[in-house]
Amino acid sequence: MPEDRTGTQPTARVRAAPLAAWGEQVFAAIGCSPREAGQVADALVESNLFGHDSHGIGLVPLYVDDARGGHAVPGRDPRVVSDAGSMVVLDGERGFGQSVGEAAMELAIERARAHGCAVVGLRLTHHLGRIGRWGEQCARAGLVSVHFVNVRSTPLVAPWGGSEARVSTNPVCIAVPHAPHPLVLDYATAAIALGKTRVAFDEGAAIEPGLMLDAHGEPSTEPGVMWQAPRGAILPFARHKGWALSVMCELLAGALTGGGVQDGVHIHPMLNNMLTLAFDPARLGTAASLGPEVATLAQWARSARPLAGSDGVLLPGEPERRVAAQREREGIPIARRTLDSLAACAASLGVPPPPEEPTP
Ligand SMILES: NC(=O)c1ccc[n+]([C@@H]2O[C@H](COP(=O)([O-])OP(=O)(O)OC[C@H]3O[C@@H](n4cnc5c(N)ncnc54)[C@H](O)[C@@H]3O)[C@@H](O)[C@H]2O)c1
Repeated sequence: MPEDRTGTQPTARVRAAPLAAWGEQVFAAIGCSPREAGQVADALVESNLFGHDSHGIGLVPLYVDDARGGHAVPGRDPRVVSDAGSMVVLDGERGFGQSVGEAAMELAIERARAHGCAVVGLRLTHHLGRIGRWGEQCARAGLVSVHFVNVRSTPLVAPWGGSEARVSTNPVCIAVPHAPHPLVLDYATAAIALGKTRVAFDEGAAIEPGLMLDAHGEPSTEPGVMWQAPRGAILPFARHKGWALSVMCELLAGALTGGGVQDGVHIHPMLNNMLTLAFDPARLGTAASLGPEVATLAQWARSARPLAGSDGVLLPGEPERRVAAQREREGIPIARRTLDSLAACAASLGVPPPPEEPTP
């Protein structure tokens, strides 16, 4: 569950709106249109608001480096590779995932409305960020959606039974429309998202045991094993179950979209492929009963005697809303080391440093 973590490094608080406005200046400076700069900056800051700092504003220097290296290209629209009505394949052409992804979901929504369901492959796009954002876009249109992603970056995750990294963190998302907010399952098939090891590294915090191996294949709690050579590996989540799901991400998002599976050769800093299945629950005849069924399940699940020390029983998507309510009130905590790297990146583009304010 996302939470406001504290390690040994100092942390400042920053309001979401000025932080997003600062991010827009950075992305405009590397050639994004005002609309695209806003899409990228808003998506990153939304991740911070939802407690997923791993996918937040701290990614700006990596995105800027990728744009400089031609690995992320401003101003791209997804190109249609094949179109069979309810089934479409798009090529993101290394465009920013935040703009290309939004356009791909608009098409998925349009096709699901026309046909009842749609399968949309989006291949070879730059980082799609927090995949829950795409599930939430579909849910706002009243659609249920399922998203499989494979990541063509440096291998980070060991296969179950292996002691060296072979695949990446390959996230999965399932979103179901509901009021006041959708139910959203959205996580990496790795035991921990890579970005969370970066946030812990920046904060000087340890990682809980059982999630990572060092370069010799020995268990480690030191986040530096993922950020200093020789690099270790993250384990799959839930032992063999996470590995098996990650294999399916490789096949559905990589092989079936044409974006390719991990092969240890064609490695890109942050390339994503995503297969989206979106459908209209009204076509199943159960749209009206969906809300009451969610309420029944929630009430029954929450009737379980609380486990000592837990936050109680939550449904997928609820932890993010709780953190967002707190961070809207109090600001977003950002490690000093992260703010320093943002300021250095901004200075290299002639953009002022990110805003910050004293901790209340
Ligand atoms: N684009 C990429 O390349 C990429 C790669 C990996 C991860 N990611 C993103 O990283 C983000 C973080 O992934 P993660 O693996 O660290 O997520 P996580 O382990 O924090 O799990 C988050 C999910 O678990 C649910 N959850 C948390 N606590 C819960 C509880 N008590 N009861 C019920 N549900 C609960 C949340 O609502 C959410 O759906 C995700 O948004 C993911 O899409 C992206």
